[in-house]
Amino acid sequence: MKRIAVLTSGGDAPGMNAAVRAVTRAALARGAEVFGVRNGYAGLLADAMEPLRARDVGGIVQHGGTVLGSARCPEFAEPSGRSAALRNLAARGIDGLVVIGGNGSQTGSATLAREGFAVVGVPSTIDNDVYGTDSSIGADTAVNITLEAIDRLRTTASSHSRAFAVETMGRDCGYIALMAGIAGGAEVIALPESEIAPAEVAKRLRAAYQRGKTHALVVIAEGARCGVKELMQHYAESRDSIGFELRVTRLGHVVRGGAPTAADRILATRLGSAAVETLAQGATACWSARRATRSSPRRLPRSPGARDRPMPRCSSSLA
Ligand code: F6P
Repeated sequence: MKRIAVLTSGGDAPGMNAAVRAVTRAALARGAEVFGVRNGYAGLLADAMEPLRARDVGGIVQHGGTVLGSARCPEFAEPSGRSAALRNLAARGIDGLVVIGGNGSQTGSATLAREGFAVVGVPSTIDNDVYGTDSSIGADTAVNITLEAIDRLRTTASSHSRAFAVETMGRDCGYIALMAGIAGGAEVIALPESEIAPAEVAKRLRAAYQRGKTHALVVIAEGARCGVKELMQHYAESRDSIGFELRVTRLGHVVRGGAPTAADRILATRLGSAAVETLAQGATACWSARRATRSSPRRLPRSPGARDRPMPRCSSSLA
């Protein structure tokens, strides 16, 4: 591994910059040169790459978005697009690539790897729906931003005895809605993985109203069939079946913006450096992934200070 390139692709995620920084510095520390690719796969096709030095990635760990830029690039799905990318990489003597992105981006990286180029993926998407890893970069921040919105909505909901339906992002995955809904004490959580009908949501809101609650919160995942539109339609047709007045807030891209949480910065740093380690070991066509220890009953330590199981490790797992 003498020269590697790094790119961020697909929807941006808070923590991508921390991953770019970790990849760059881990590679430089191993004596490799690093090139930053502009705007994801589009930059590979357009040969838009610049050398990255340690200072170039200084002061970015705390910033959201991605300093490299990101894009969705349908041309890369075509063999002609990938040939152009491979030609540009070869012309610069680049022998390894780190792709920081979600499912679509890693489908691209897997294809490139099948065509013989050394690629390692770093799972990065707020959706947290990437195969083979428990956590992807950006998901923790998105959960926390959604939670902050829920907490804020609850205060105004209480003042007016209202219910709020909050829709958060996640494409086809309900992770953000589920985690923020649990942490925010939501009355109802609507997920694509566990569908609920608008009438059932209304029933639960009514029950909360009858219990004397001054507010009620419904957290809706973007991909749920019972979306805000369906819920509001039901409300318009049978207002009395809810009790509360109902308002809707769609968080949209707000949950993807802003500074990454500490957890995302740390995850990105670990996964980024593990990706470089993996390339250096000659492995390719894999993710840098995190598998956490599951919650399970544990015996208490026999003596004070006795060590528990070791910390979960970042490892590279074939996917
Ligand atoms: O995959 C990340 C994500 O933010 C999804 O949660 C959302 O459905 C989608 O991207 C939005 O895509 P775009 O930024 O292209 O509108």
